[in-house]
Amino acid sequence: MKVAVLGCGSVGSQVVRLLLEQADDLEARTGARVELAGVAVRRIDAPRDVDVPPGLLTTDAAGLVARDDVDLVVEVIGGIEPARALILSALEHGKSVVTANKALLAEDGPTLFEAADKNERDLYYEAAVAGAIPILRPLRESLAGDRVTRVLGIVNGTTNFILDKMDSSGAGFNEALEEAQELGYAEADPTADVEGFDAAAKAAILASLAFHTRVTAADVHREGISEVTAADVASARDMDSVVKLLAIAELRDDAVAVRVHPAMIPRSHPLASVREAYNAVFVESEAAGQLMFYGPGAGGAPTASAVLGDLVTVARNRLAGTRGAGESAYADRRLLPMGET
Ligand code: HSE
Repeated sequence: MKVAVLGCGSVGSQVVRLLLEQADDLEARTGARVELAGVAVRRIDAPRDVDVPPGLLTTDAAGLVARDDVDLVVEVIGGIEPARALILSALEHGKSVVTANKALLAEDGPTLFEAADKNERDLYYEAAVAGAIPILRPLRESLAGDRVTRVLGIVNGTTNFILDKMDSSGAGFNEALEEAQELGYAEADPTADVEGFDAAAKAAILASLAFHTRVTAADVHREGISEVTAADVASARDMDSVVKLLAIAELRDDAVAVRVHPAMIPRSHPLASVREAYNAVFVESEAAGQLMFYGPGAGGAPTASAVLGDLVTVARNRLAGTRGAGESAYADRRLLPMGET
């Protein structure tokens, strides 16, 4: 089973490391030797966190995904292009695909799902939401016989770190953001995290799977945390509550409402205990009741853990000549207008 990895940044380098270090375990779990076929990068000589075996690095990603000997493609480049074109090409060339690309899935998931269906190949993306936390497969598979009614998620670690710091130390937003940047959580341009774009993309993916429908990031009402003040956090504390950036997806009379905004939640709620840069997703369903999924939502190794889990699944499916649960069985649900709560 030959694997092409597209991208060798913080996640890609950990995927490569795990593939090399755990080759024997992966063979035991899949029934086939899982081998690295190549790693596509922008620059061969860039510094990276893993020693890629000689001869496997290439700048020709398009050539790598089309190679006859490649069975599985892992896309960890991120962003819309060239990731979309490469994933579509991989599927058209008969490869199974694992991706961590939340932005692409939230913007144009249906195009990818249709290509996977047309070519009868797997497309798995557990790592796209909440890093290491297994949440997409439970929504798509384990809870598929239940009726999920609400999903509440803390799905952005950077903003949770900032809000937690404001709560625990009384810091203002800018001071907490600076600390998040110093610790490497927030990027130099923190817009995608603090204005809720990252959480909105994840909310769209969660809502699509929870309600077996199609929701894009543009359908998500979004408000970030840059306007949250130390006084807001102090008022919440006075009411024995905390401020969290929540991704909320709800089913209401068969219509779907999805939004991301700061919300005050009582300290007694399980989501209030999610500290620092951790993520959690709280799910309510008719039969199961309440479930919570908790863990590290970002970082190279945690995200690579989710990628490798998908890789084992698609490798097993491929060896068995089958494919996993596709995205084709969905209902066209009405989306409640932006801002309607
Ligand atoms: N910037 C994201 C976060 C990374 O802070 O959660 C994981 O998607």
